[in-house]
Amino acid sequence: MIKAIIFDLDGVVVDTAKHHFKAWSLVAKKLNVPFAEDQNEDLKGVSRANSLEKILQWGDLEISLDKKQELLDYKNKIYLNLISKISSKDLLPGVYHLIETFRKNGFKIALGSSSKNAIPILKKLELFDLFDEIVGGNLVSISKPNPEVFLKASSLLGVPKEKCLVFEDAQSGIQAALNAGMYCIAVENKGNLIGAHKKVNSLNEISDISALINDLADKKPKT
Ligand code: BG6
Ligand code: MG
Repeated sequence: MIKAIIFDLDGVVVDTAKHHFKAWSLVAKKLNVPFAEDQNEDLKGVSRANSLEKILQWGDLEISLDKKQELLDYKNKIYLNLISKISSKDLLPGVYHLIETFRKNGFKIALGSSSKNAIPILKKLELFDLFDEIVGGNLVSISKPNPEVFLKASSLLGVPKEKCLVFEDAQSGIQAALNAGMYCIAVENKGNLIGAHKKVNSLNEISDISALINDLADKKPKT
């Protein structure tokens, strides 16, 4: 049965989705591309470079590689500024307790994130030492919904994919977990995520991990 838990970072562990949105809004404004909050759902879980490609597609724009790099650097500079004061106060409800509970019960814990900022963020949140393995955007070549990030986490942990459970808040991430052949719990925010084995509105809804694991045992990892 399930032996390892893989957490997405942005929107599952920490409340940073609003900062990514703000930074992308400024990029879209520079490009004169209309960008509403519901469109931001399509960027969640997606790498920085692929997110920019989506915004360019929405605006039907083609720009040079140099200009792309300039915009990616600009986005990250704004984002880093917005999260400069991030701390354990920005953890999402229930996450610290849940990680601790899984650890105490012998589960391996990994991070599976598209963010190239994952390691400094975990350090600021004082969570770095709770993870057995950390797979961030720097270790991944193909963005979610490709399963690479989660398969890398499973291989580093030495736990087969069908024994891994992923917590995700993004549709691209749920798809990545399912594409990896893993179990997935959606952490809802807007009520529109589909495909996961189970949904919660917040991690603090999970009070009994044995009941959760038994509940999932009746289901098969979807492929
Ligand atoms: C994901 C976020 O976790 O990481 C995306 O949901 C973000 O919004 C992606 O674009 C890449 O993050 P970063 O920190 O490398 O720009
Ligand atoms: Mg996320």
